[in-house]
Amino acid sequence: MTVDQYRSLIREVPDFPRAGILFYDITTLLKDPAAFAAIADELTAYYQGQGISKVVGIESRGFIYGGTLAQRLKAGFVPVRKPGKLPAAIYEVNYELEYGSNSLAIHRDAIVKGERVLIVDDLLATGGTAAATVMLIKQLGGEIAGLDFLVELQSLNGRDKLAGYPVHSTILYP
Ligand code: PRP
Ligand code: MG
Repeated sequence: MTVDQYRSLIREVPDFPRAGILFYDITTLLKDPAAFAAIADELTAYYQGQGISKVVGIESRGFIYGGTLAQRLKAGFVPVRKPGKLPAAIYEVNYELEYGSNSLAIHRDAIVKGERVLIVDDLLATGGTAAATVMLIKQLGGEIAGLDFLVELQSLNGRDKLAGYPVHSTILYP
């Protein structure tokens, strides 16, 4: 499938979750079986052979294709979660969001020092969420093989917060 076909499957919802925010909804892409499979195929081909042993998905929308990609890469899946969700020993970090602030946590035993990790999320906006996840992985001694997003909002310069790491996005918006 072409990038334009993928883009046509992203639903744009004005003023959600609050006034002035244009929400890029990936559920309309995911419910299309051919599009979901094509994305998974393309990303598998892109990341195969890079020695990735863990895919880290960011709650909650990063879980959806993170799990699929982990399976296809024969890697384990690790969730990075919002506060109060993980039951065992964690590391936690605070971060600024496009709308508000939050914190994210990871289980301390989720990644072994030196493991090659791919971080995935549905969307890169300001980069705060992804940068916080990078900090969590580094705290555990993981090596970041890359960060993958379905959608990137380039005008918000999220890549600047991820300088030095390979960033790949499928659908770019100005
Ligand atoms: C959205 C989106 C990314 C993040 C991007 O998640 O799914 O995770 O914001 O924003 P940033 O680059 O400015 O940090 P959100 O926190 O709304 O939660 P959700 O995935 O659970 O819906
Ligand atoms: Mg999210």
